[in-house]
Amino acid sequence: MPDDLTPLANAYRSIAEMPAQHHAAPESAAQARARFFNTGNAFNVQLPPVPDMAFTAEPARALDPATHTGFIACDISAELGCEFPATSPLVLARYARIRANESLAADFVASGVIVYVIHGSGRTICGDENLAWGEGDLLVLPGGVTQTHSADGADAVLWIVTNEPQLAFENLRAPAPGAAPTDAVHYTGAEIRRQIDMLYDIGRNEEIAGSALIFSAARQEATRNILPTLTAAMNSLPAGVVQRPHRHNSVAVSLVINGKKCFSLIDGKRKDWSPFATTITPPVSVHSHHNDGDQQALFLIIQDGGIYYHARAMGFEFTDHSAI
Ligand SMILES: [Fe+2]
Repeated sequence: MPDDLTPLANAYRSIAEMPAQHHAAPESAAQARARFFNTGNAFNVQLPPVPDMAFTAEPARALDPATHTGFIACDISAELGCEFPATSPLVLARYARIRANESLAADFVASGVIVYVIHGSGRTICGDENLAWGEGDLLVLPGGVTQTHSADGADAVLWIVTNEPQLAFENLRAPAPGAAPTDAVHYTGAEIRRQIDMLYDIGRNEEIAGSALIFSAARQEATRNILPTLTAAMNSLPAGVVQRPHRHNSVAVSLVINGKKCFSLIDGKRKDWSPFATTITPPVSVHSHHNDGDQQALFLIIQDGGIYYHARAMGFEFTDHSAI
């Protein structure tokens, strides 16, 4: 052993006890910035887990007529240990209330923006696009272009999901105008309803995970995603039905649209649904959805699944193997 290493070898019983090592004799500021870890001390950083929570105060505020025009974020960045607003490590959900005949402009640092109309009607101007929307509509808008949402003669409430945390994690800017990975896309509530009904008319077998309508777009058709890194699905659950327990590596940030007497089991814990709550299904958790009511349940699920598909690491599996 070289002489200059002998004191270190005596100071630690294992490489796991070593603090971050620095360049012994840096000859530049760049060399001084170097840090060295090892197999014993590099992989023990414990990040706070993604909680299996439901946001109910935020939709209550958004749906309250006394609330002024503005955004209400579902932000648990402090709990997640993130330095930027986040609902899950890579996804941010927020509500928007827009009072009658008022407008709300957004300029999110995101590659794309997903908007669901909970209530009301209005229009969104985004670059050259001018989209008239109503209750139950879903929009995708390109990042890097200001979006101005205006309500018609009654108040409107929107649910908006972006990948802002994904960009913030890497300190990235929004795409230049025209460079976003999506164009504006509009799925009307009536067409969504028609597509869901068609799934039930045709039927499925048990190898398919539920009767969810997956939203994609002309530019994302090859991947079946709604944005390169995000997936969006309108999941439906008939009265009295349980969706098979399963797990995947992507997180799900969901909006309960219709769900009386519905609940999820997440790693064995029961989570009751409430109207227009935003729920988090943590990555890798075993989960199933249950409808004890007498109406079809509907929930809109956004996942960071595009990242995992691209990385060949979705990790989807049913966990009730005996049912196959
Ligand atoms: Fe799932």
